[in-house]
Amino acid sequence: MVELSLPKNSTPRPGKFHPAPSDAKRKAVFQIYRWSPDDDENPCLDSYELDLDKVGPMVLDALLYIKDHIDASLTFRRSCREGICGSCAMNIDGENTLACLKPISAIKGTIRINPLPHMPVVKDLVPNLNGAYAQLESIQPWLKSDTPPPPDTERLQSIEEREKLDGMWECILCFCCSTSCPSYWWNGDRYLGPATLLAANRWIMDSRDDHTGERLAALDDSMKLYGCRTIMNCTQTCPKGLNPAKAIANIKKLQVERE
Ligand code: SF4
Ligand code: SF4
Ligand code: FES
Repeated sequence: MVELSLPKNSTPRPGKFHPAPSDAKRKAVFQIYRWSPDDDENPCLDSYELDLDKVGPMVLDALLYIKDHIDASLTFRRSCREGICGSCAMNIDGENTLACLKPISAIKGTIRINPLPHMPVVKDLVPNLNGAYAQLESIQPWLKSDTPPPPDTERLQSIEEREKLDGMWECILCFCCSTSCPSYWWNGDRYLGPATLLAANRWIMDSRDDHTGERLAALDDSMKLYGCRTIMNCTQTCPKGLNPAKAIANIKKLQVERE
């Protein structure tokens, strides 16, 4: 069991500076948030100056280079390195995004890297997402049908029924959206947040699901759903180009129609 810590109220102090080799021609400085439950001098911002001719093109390549060649203690999540698994979500240059999809060349000056905002930190760039996953589980993100499946084929949809899921099935659950939402920052214990509500809308709109009314009733709550104040940070930041604010608006519309 991971001990949770939330150092978000303390200002990070300047940390160590790791210079690039003297023969480096193309250089960039990566300033990275460091926090560890075992370090009394937390949190701090360590700076790593890299020779860009030795590093791949994406911010994740730089993090891997630092871990492999300079500082093995640097901790972050990653898996697919192509925008599919959602695990490398972090705040880069002030924006929540995926390190594997963010080109180093897109950032001018020092490249500032922090964990996803307003989440408990496990270590360095790794946020604790247990609460977010518990919220996701609460909306029961799976098909709930009272109809037995056909014996010799899958449950079929028309092209039009299937198209209603576009813009939702692509979500990779990176939580960039929820952690960019001011309502979720302040009320993340009661407001479900855009990632979970987009997932809820995905199942509400599924023609094969028989529990739409029950799903809507479970969301009809002043905070779970109506904590959204239509600020739109979620849609602006989604690295997959999805529109969680539109999904939330659809759930609100269906609530009105249900009444
Ligand atoms: S539209 Fe709603 S969910 Fe999206 S950032 Fe704004 S308040 Fe948060
Ligand atoms: S909607 Fe976009 S930002 Fe939000 S969890 Fe899904 S992929 Fe990530
Ligand atoms: S490593 Fe999988 S999304 Fe970045």
